[in-house]
Amino acid sequence: MTDSKSAAPDAPSLREDLTVAPDGRPLSAQPEWRREFPIDWPADEYVSRRALMKFMTLTSCAFVAGHAWLAASSAGKRPEMPSERLAIARVDELAPGAARTFQYPPGSPPRLLIRLDATRFVAYDQACTHLSCPVVPQPRLGKIHCPCHNGWFDLETGAPLAGPPRRPLPRVTLEVRDGVVYATGITTGGATS
Ligand code: FES
Repeated sequence: MTDSKSAAPDAPSLREDLTVAPDGRPLSAQPEWRREFPIDWPADEYVSRRALMKFMTLTSCAFVAGHAWLAASSAGKRPEMPSERLAIARVDELAPGAARTFQYPPGSPPRLLIRLDATRFVAYDQACTHLSCPVVPQPRLGKIHCPCHNGWFDLETGAPLAGPPRRPLPRVTLEVRDGVVYATGITTGGATS
């Protein structure tokens, strides 16, 4: 009785025969160009896997080296957290609701000093926490506006209220003494001065 599952005698073999090089030597003994560009599928797949492994190894090494470089370079930098007190305005230079820009520490990106009322001031980074457009105080609305993508922040806390921004404006802590407004530090959580 014939086994129906056995292959027909003349069915093509599933094994792919390897091409024999003209000199009859095995592939491992052939010149490099012939090993790198084989004409048989099994050998070609082997080369592809080897190339992939080489690529992944090099990519991993580059990834690790990049992270090591970033860690090393950031270890040498001091975060921008000035602790020096710096006079940035006289109290009588700003009416309630008025604002001006200043640098703290000197040479920093512009920051905004805003007078809320007779006694209170707030100060923030002028760069929006979405994509760094300059923000504009809107004291009558109690908000700060970013015109680029219609982002809004709370005037008194710097917290994001609407639009794309998700993080509060970094805040400059202030001290008012003898009619002078001093910057005393920077916080990123919207703490009050
Ligand atoms: S840059 Fe401010 S909302 Fe996009």
